[in-house]
Amino acid sequence: MLELRDYLEANKKSDKRYYVPRRREGEPMQVVSVVNFKGGSGKTTTAAHLAQYLALTGHRVLAVDLDPQASLTSLFGIQPELDDTASLYEALRFDDERKSIADVIQPTNIPGLDVVPASLVLQEYEYDVPLAISSKKGEDGRLFYMRIASALKQVDERYDVVVIDCPPQLGYLTITALMASTGILITIHPQMLDIMSMSQFLMMLGGIMGPVAEAGAEMRVQWFRYLITRFEPTDIPQAQMVGFMQSMFAQQMLRNHVLKSTAISDASIKKQTLYEVERGGFVRSTYDRAMESLNAANGEIVDLIHGAWGRK
Ligand SMILES: Nc1ncnc2c1ncn2[C@@H]1O[C@H](COP(=O)(O)OP(=O)(O)OP(=O)(O)O)[C@@H](O)[C@H]1O
Ligand SMILES: [Mg+2]
Repeated sequence: MLELRDYLEANKKSDKRYYVPRRREGEPMQVVSVVNFKGGSGKTTTAAHLAQYLALTGHRVLAVDLDPQASLTSLFGIQPELDDTASLYEALRFDDERKSIADVIQPTNIPGLDVVPASLVLQEYEYDVPLAISSKKGEDGRLFYMRIASALKQVDERYDVVVIDCPPQLGYLTITALMASTGILITIHPQMLDIMSMSQFLMMLGGIMGPVAEAGAEMRVQWFRYLITRFEPTDIPQAQMVGFMQSMFAQQMLRNHVLKSTAISDASIKKQTLYEVERGGFVRSTYDRAMESLNAANGEIVDLIHGAWGRK
């Protein structure tokens, strides 16, 4: 963390964005969802580092764990199995037990960063939505896709940016998150099979979001970007795949990729991010390369967020 502070300190002089990061009047809360139905594409790692980076650069951040597997939750030091943790489900449910999202928010060890934990109960939402749609008062069900946006509205004053870690499936949870999003990050591990499943994902996404939008839903999305994760530049097929993607989707790709690094995977085994571990615990060049690639990708995302606020 100290190293990130040094890095930011060094950048302050050349980079205006670190002076006034908090949103001002007229700058709407930004909601960034990290998605891909491919398991293990780096969603949780990306969401955790992005949320912490945003907080460490002065933003007020809410990280939302939307995956019933609760990986982000445990990465942030909360054990949902042991603690009987309340999850976002409490704010999404269709019955009278529904709570405000404010009741399920927890602080983290990083100043300026709160989290809404996940737990297995979140999975219930996938069964609740079709039941609600077919129930007598079907209106609530048909407007299911508004539920995360509505929940977040209740804490709009408290946060600048919300980062949502989505589950590896294109179910009602993910659709509801996407409909609340102003920005979408699709994480991709550059192997042929991942790319194939990504295009499948996008086709399904188009197939679902189209009808939802036609049903009158307001789309808030201002940008979407592919983020290459766990990248190994010396792996020729991977490098070729990234080159191919860059030529196909030049506008939609983040320029910086997150490198595959033992520093990141070792940290995650200890339920930490690279921003939390000590630099001294790693080969310095390994740590530095990983940190540089994370900061560069996260910096680009901050620019997109500030861009959505109309800042240069
Ligand atoms: N840049 C990286 N370098 C090395 N290991 C990484 C990197 N990014 C992610 N990993 C490791 O890869 C595994 C999968 O990453 P992660 O959990 O972020 O993926 P995910 O898309 O959230 O998975 P799921 O679909 O199951 O939710 C984890 O063990 C993580 O530590
Ligand atoms: Mg995950």
